Amino acid sequence: MTQHTEHTTKHEHHAREKWGTKLGLILAMAGNAIGLGNFLRFPVQCANNGGGAFMIPYFIALFLLGIPLMWVEWGIGRFGGKYGHGTTPGMFHYLWKNPVSKYLGAVGIMIPFCLVIYYTYIESWTLAYSAFSFTGKYFGITTHQGMIDFLGAYQGKVVNQHFNGIGTAYLFFLITLLANIWILWHGTKGIEWLGKWAIPTIFIFGIILLVRVFTLGTPNPALPEQNVWNGLGFIWNPDFRQLGNAKVWLAATGQIFFTLSVGFGAIQTYASYLTPKDDVVASGLATVSANEAAEVILGGSIAIPVTVAFFGIAATQQIAAGGSFDLGFFALPLIFQKLPFGQFFGTIWFFLLFLAGITSSVAMAQPIMAFLQEEFKVTRKNAALMIGGALFFLMHPVIFFLKHGFLDEMDFWIGTFGIVFLALLEIIIFIWLFGAKNAWKEIHSGALMKVPRVFLFIMKYITPAYLIILLGFWFYQDGLRVITMAGVPPENYPYIWFARFLMIGTLIVAFVAVYIAWQKKHRIMQRIPSS
Ligand code: TRP
Repeated sequence: MTQHTEHTTKHEHHAREKWGTKLGLILAMAGNAIGLGNFLRFPVQCANNGGGAFMIPYFIALFLLGIPLMWVEWGIGRFGGKYGHGTTPGMFHYLWKNPVSKYLGAVGIMIPFCLVIYYTYIESWTLAYSAFSFTGKYFGITTHQGMIDFLGAYQGKVVNQHFNGIGTAYLFFLITLLANIWILWHGTKGIEWLGKWAIPTIFIFGIILLVRVFTLGTPNPALPEQNVWNGLGFIWNPDFRQLGNAKVWLAATGQIFFTLSVGFGAIQTYASYLTPKDDVVASGLATVSANEAAEVILGGSIAIPVTVAFFGIAATQQIAAGGSFDLGFFALPLIFQKLPFGQFFGTIWFFLLFLAGITSSVAMAQPIMAFLQEEFKVTRKNAALMIGGALFFLMHPVIFFLKHGFLDEMDFWIGTFGIVFLALLEIIIFIWLFGAKNAWKEIHSGALMKVPRVFLFIMKYITPAYLIILLGFWFYQDGLRVITMAGVPPENYPYIWFARFLMIGTLIVAFVAVYIAWQKKHRIMQRIPSS
């Protein structure tokens, strides 16, 4: 039996895709991590939660959760790849020899799938806004409310002079979906190709925008208070009193999860295309560094400082309180209109966001690709088409029920709760059940440098304890409120239930798929000895 398993393993091992080059791998992983979160979510979270003081819980979470989980996910991923599995059901199955482990892994299919459904739609707005900047479509709108109406009409929430329906949004949704499918169709080669030009472009555009922001000075000499330096001060001046507030710690931790893409089941799939000789320790750190550079340096210096320079601190505070989208989609378009060559800057800003988005969305879809290819022997191209079809279908409720809180409901369960849950499962299975010694060896195979031993202690005790506390806190603070739909207007109830039904349905489908896939394997294995 072991012989046969070995045989199939070897066979599958040869059939799996591999990353072409080291650089391609790093850029693909950087593309996975660098996303809308770095440029929109980070500055708003930082400004809303204590400014520079936010960086204290942020870096604590980076060291106690982010980096350990990054190594854990790379380790789990490469380990699974050796056995021909790019997704958590197969990985958990080999890490913990228990019949339920593969079903726990189904969570790692459901989370990225649900995430990609709504992330892709948001990504399509950035492409649209890049085009609108290029053509100057929103030029002439001079107020915040005007931009809200513009986005509202674009999203089909209202009808006004800008858009008379959801048609334009739908068109950009289709283009974005097709672009994603096209990359997935080309497999890891497509992803590597995308990373190789998208990541440098993101950094170049980011640096151009950063230089533009830093040379703004005081745009309106009549209002000397409103300048870039006060803008940088606004995002970075620490307000240490805020550290006594649990909300700030939760926000910082959530941001670490979101920005590094850990807890989503996506890093593992990319890592499964490594070879045993690859260096998990160094490459994992390189990915974290690239992401943090894009986030803290570029993300922290563009959107907020420029908004302060033009609108002042009080207004920026108000805008940031409205969330990341208000900053990106309402405030910045107004500013581009005031800059010389504003159309150019607007185009590259939104295109940067689009590139950051698409390198992340293909990473979210890749686990589903791998699952279909490996567990159901679907060809790569067919898998891409099936995912395209499913996404096309399932994105409709997100598009049409946006105004009823459909996306927000999904975002809470997936983006806040689900990821912490999956991260906890991973740590328990890898470090506790597979065994800390084995896990440590697995992470270090092929590594040039050694992780300081204190990280073993962190991974074993601190990270899981931290995650359990987080889960408890979120549940206490938001969970009950969300479950009981406190504050939700009654007319939205059916849509919220629909969103839940969709998520639970996806999880059930993932369970059943795992069941069927393992039944099939079982039958094949039973047949081999008798043949
Ligand atoms: N890290 C990405 C960002 O900063 C978004 C993201 C969250 C992601 N989870 C993911 C990307 C899972 C790929 C896979 O925007």
